[in-house]
Amino acid sequence: MDGNGRWAKQQGMARVFGHRNGVKAVRETAEASAELGIEYLTLFAFSTENWNRPAMEVNALMKLLVDTLSKEVETLNENDIRLEAIGDLDKLPAKSHKALLKGIEDTKTNSRMTMILALNYSARWEIVEAARKMAIEVKEGKLDARQIEDKTFENYLTTKNYPDPELMIRTSGEQRISNYLLWQLAYTELYFTDVLWPDFRKQHLYEALIDFQSRERRFGKTSEQLA
Ligand code: IPE
Ligand code: MG
Repeated sequence: MDGNGRWAKQQGMARVFGHRNGVKAVRETAEASAELGIEYLTLFAFSTENWNRPAMEVNALMKLLVDTLSKEVETLNENDIRLEAIGDLDKLPAKSHKALLKGIEDTKTNSRMTMILALNYSARWEIVEAARKMAIEVKEGKLDARQIEDKTFENYLTTKNYPDPELMIRTSGEQRISNYLLWQLAYTELYFTDVLWPDFRKQHLYEALIDFQSRERRFGKTSEQLA
């Protein structure tokens, strides 16, 4: 979800105004995804690197998280959406952490779609964490180093309960991964749009999905092998 700051600037407003207006895009995207039968929607809401922004902006984002979660749990329940989160969540401010855990708890029996918020998340952090945990278990004799495979590694990632994404959308014209789900995106289709996040609507999601449907996913095989 990128482009909130530029969107605000275009209107001659402070960056925070853009973040606030990004909430509508989240609502639209979540609702459209659930309606279409998408089972997992992951939103990159706050990266580990975002702490380096001005304190005022970080505080506003954390407050927005609390306010939005408190307000939108009802919408999530109405749409049968379960909320989950990945990232170094313990390091979030206490209030934000609490609101997040409450949102997760209050929606845990919903089953139409799982909406995963990546919060204080970075892929390198996640991969290093996984390596560290595995190393500790090897040392403690709980894990055999020679048996470590792709599947083993995946079990130590924050996404162990979710399938790899099929499609990644980045808004605002930037064409980068920015430390997002580096392991999981190995075979993901990438889609970039110039639309700034606060302007992102159902129609834009449909356009991305139509583009996705025209792609041939080969997973390393030849076109003929797929036929
Ligand atoms: C994305 O919009 C929102 C967050 C990272 C929280 P930005 O704040 O990055 O907006 P730009 O890139 O400055 O326009
Ligand atoms: Mg940005």
